[in-house]
Amino acid sequence: MYRTHTCGELRLADKGKTVTLAGWVQKSRKLGGMTFIDLRDRYGITQLVVEADADAALVETAASLGREFVIQATGEVLERQSKNPKMPTGDVEIKLSAIRILNKSSVPPFTIEEQSDGGEDLRAKYRYLDLRRPPLQRALALRHRLAQEIRSYLDGQGFMEIETPYLIKSTPEGARDFVVPSRMNPGTFYALPQSPQTFKQLLMVAGYDRYFQIVRCFRDEDLRADRQPEFTQIDCEMSFVEQEDVLNTFEGMMRQMFKNALGVDIPNPLPRMSWYDAMDGYGSDKPDIRFGMKIHEITKLVQGCGFSVFDGAAYIGGIAVEDCAEYTRKQLDELTEWVKRPQVGAKGLVYIKIAADGTIKSSIDKFYTPEQLKAVADACEAKAGDLVLVLCGEKRKTQTQLGVLRIEMGGRLGLRDPKVFAPLWIVDFPLLEWSEEDGRFYAMHHPFTAPKPEHEKWFYSDKKEDLERVCANAYDFVLNGTELGGGSIRIHDAAMQSRMFDVLGISKEDAEYKFGFIINAFKFGAPPHGGLAFGFDRVCALFGGQETIRDYIAFPKNNQGRDVMIDSPSNSSWLPPTRRRSREDPTELRFARAEYLPDEGVLRLLCRV
Ligand code: AMO
Repeated sequence: MYRTHTCGELRLADKGKTVTLAGWVQKSRKLGGMTFIDLRDRYGITQLVVEADADAALVETAASLGREFVIQATGEVLERQSKNPKMPTGDVEIKLSAIRILNKSSVPPFTIEEQSDGGEDLRAKYRYLDLRRPPLQRALALRHRLAQEIRSYLDGQGFMEIETPYLIKSTPEGARDFVVPSRMNPGTFYALPQSPQTFKQLLMVAGYDRYFQIVRCFRDEDLRADRQPEFTQIDCEMSFVEQEDVLNTFEGMMRQMFKNALGVDIPNPLPRMSWYDAMDGYGSDKPDIRFGMKIHEITKLVQGCGFSVFDGAAYIGGIAVEDCAEYTRKQLDELTEWVKRPQVGAKGLVYIKIAADGTIKSSIDKFYTPEQLKAVADACEAKAGDLVLVLCGEKRKTQTQLGVLRIEMGGRLGLRDPKVFAPLWIVDFPLLEWSEEDGRFYAMHHPFTAPKPEHEKWFYSDKKEDLERVCANAYDFVLNGTELGGGSIRIHDAAMQSRMFDVLGISKEDAEYKFGFIINAFKFGAPPHGGLAFGFDRVCALFGGQETIRDYIAFPKNNQGRDVMIDSPSNSSWLPPTRRRSREDPTELRFARAEYLPDEGVLRLLCRV
């Protein structure tokens, strides 16, 4: 036994016991001939003390300890003279009788404490040292707890955890694939799964009517705070269900996770909002409903008064920002520049200030009477002291810009408290999205998503307007402005699936090549089914009160998709030479080097023969 207790365990009740601890030296300091050592493991920190009159060899060893040395220390638990109420072990210290250095350490490149002095890049390079810090240990402990909650809930509901393969072919999620060359089949490639979508549907055909998996997915897409190239889904699928069954089941899972991991009760039932209401009221399909500041359309109210910018706009909308009527000219100019940034993309910003005494001042005073401006303020639900911000342009684009502005103002006003949780379901998504650029429809979710039964009549129509009206039997789980999960009831009928491919302009040959296996499987008694997947890293981060998922993944990639610790991807990744299977097979290729050419979307293999 290396240790009798952990470094987070000892209390005053242990006074007088002889104990042995093992861990890392956080720091060691000399004070009046005594040496104090903070010993750390993942459970906490315990203070060790070597008295000035202790055995000379012990004093010498204590003096030689450096940061992050691994030691084993034995001694007696004493009550501390000056207690530290901030530490759970702060009432005691261990008076040492022996120290054994288990391993020395080089000087760590940054301090391994709650707050480190190391920059992000340095900490990423030495991730294993960063992982010794309490914030990361808490993050991974939360991830572990949530994984246990998920497994226990789903097991209790009769779900089976089944693994699906990683070396597959393209899945329908629509990002770029990561590809892997097949040595045994030269010139051919596997794709890594963007999700187990097709496999979980095949499991439904196979009769495993409640499936789940906590599974790694791979997507070659631009990274953001809440996106990693490899991430983890809580992937689920159920047979013989309707949308309502899926929502109830997973609302239950989330409720248990919130309760057991955070002690938080979420509303029962959760609010639901249609995609149309979300876009109209929040300018986003993942609305943050922790605060109001909803978007209001004011097109009719402000057109026809001689202000040409508004008169020429398809849509005009505004938000009322609480208690900001005092905004100065400088602040408004800064905000105008902010909405003009390419990330937001507005052309300009109109404001209306409603002073505390009700007087109205605006950037469009020339064109509107105070009564007209008051009517606009009322329409935006502004009250005295508020600032109304107005944008105009094409409808959905302007709503999205107002949505981004709303989030920004909500943040500036401190309305986005990470300790407040406001989950909801977004339902009734459009099934299809028209791309002007490509002149074709795309599936808003993926091509296996079923239309709502009552909209099937439009689904079979050839008119673009009809197809645009079709709602999908799809749903997203949204928390605090982040999409945590999404799914749908699937098409299980071969004729409907084939109609879907037609609508998406996917030829029979293409459909057969990409998804032939699943279309074929559907001919053998596919049950009605549906499911969803949550982004597990996002769930962990939001539960932990963070927006970035990196701290909740033990070994994440940086913003450029690089792992700087292992230095991957590398310029030319030298693959280990393959061994010939037999002398009789001189044709077998040895891949010497592989290079991915992103513009061409191909992997070039240089071969040694
Ligand atoms: P979708 O593509 O919406 O659906 O993904 C489900 C959830 O996975 C998370 N997610 C990500 N998390 C981190 N990094 C990424 N790059 C990333 N991409 C997605 C999100 C998202 O809500 N097969 C369907 C699910 C289904 O229909 O059952 C799917 O993958 O939280």
